[in-house]
Amino acid sequence: MELTREEERMLNGDYGEATRLAMRLIVRVGEALGAEKLVEISHAHVSGISYDNIGEHGLSFIKELAEKGGRARVYATYNPVGLSLLPGPLGPEEVGEAFYKKQMEIIRSLEHMGFKASATCIPYRLRRPRLGEHLAWGESSAVAVANTLYGARTNREGGPLALAAALTGRTYYWGLHLEENRRPDALVSYTGGPLGEPGSGVLGYIIGQSLPDTVPYIDAAVEKPRGVQSLCAAAAASGNTAMCVIRGVSPEDHGPPERPRERLTITPEDLERLRRDIAPLEPREAELFFTGCPHHGVEELDRIERLLDELGLDRAPKPVWVAVPGLYSASLRERAERLRRRNIHVLPGTCIVVARLIRGARIATDSLKAVFYLPRRHGAEVAVTSLREFLKQSLHG
Ligand code: F3S
Repeated sequence: MELTREEERMLNGDYGEATRLAMRLIVRVGEALGAEKLVEISHAHVSGISYDNIGEHGLSFIKELAEKGGRARVYATYNPVGLSLLPGPLGPEEVGEAFYKKQMEIIRSLEHMGFKASATCIPYRLRRPRLGEHLAWGESSAVAVANTLYGARTNREGGPLALAAALTGRTYYWGLHLEENRRPDALVSYTGGPLGEPGSGVLGYIIGQSLPDTVPYIDAAVEKPRGVQSLCAAAAASGNTAMCVIRGVSPEDHGPPERPRERLTITPEDLERLRRDIAPLEPREAELFFTGCPHHGVEELDRIERLLDELGLDRAPKPVWVAVPGLYSASLRERAERLRRRNIHVLPGTCIVVARLIRGARIATDSLKAVFYLPRRHGAEVAVTSLREFLKQSLHG
């Protein structure tokens, strides 16, 4: 692999042991994939940092890099963690002291290395990616959004590789960093009307399942940004989708491919059939509603409160859990307290997929990514619906 002088110096240990280890990892993986060179990145985002997922082994890897002087060379953020950063559901007192301490060690090590206190899977809301810029992100939903909605370039990086990219400011020039791999090669036509959440998520779920290893061109009216986020997250979860081109949405939309290697026509009935197959629970049987997968911005809390007001509800009849970025935890403290009295529970910095699920085995959600993971990871039964429908049904059930 061809390296610049600066990259050679990193590999030789001129910038310290952590940078050397990180560069060695990137070069090894890049060489194994056949990359000819590295590329400079402007933002690294590390996933896989819930202690529940990575355990002692992952914790020691991150700590070791921090202790060896690792320092982020570019803007760097990290994904949701294994507990809510405020008291309440999935909060410190629920996960237990031992788990809390381990998770905080991971967070401290990352922040010691210069990562922003982010704890979110929507890093594009913290720093908006630019068309054509190179990133190294490790959260599959965010990767698909960066490529699809912003036209930035990132592969689906594993947690250790995204961390190594943060410490070197480089990743291997391969996959979706190359122009020729970003052209759509499959065509999806949706015959129904505009899709928000959760409909766009169901469409994404089918696309991920049916069209692996493609860049699908999606001929459908997908609402920005939430419909796009939801579609990308679901397709990345049910398959390995890392990029779509959506008609009228993606900056790299130059029209459908002339000779797609695969074609798929999806009808509203197909969406309904899949929804029933993968989420057979009736929404009224669910114990709680979860939303915010991918994370919501805090403005969603206003929307939820307005919805309760509109439905004439002082309190939601059943708990509503809302996942938002961890960086808001301090500023949200009082508001979260007030919302709790309305049975709305804010979960800053986590989600029910990456956290330990302490309770709530029958869950309604508007997220198809959550539908994919909750039964597999937590043995939960799931229902798909919007919050509006859930609240209405809970009132009458
Ligand atoms: Fe984010 Fe958790 Fe969903 S990390 S995309 S809210 S599974």
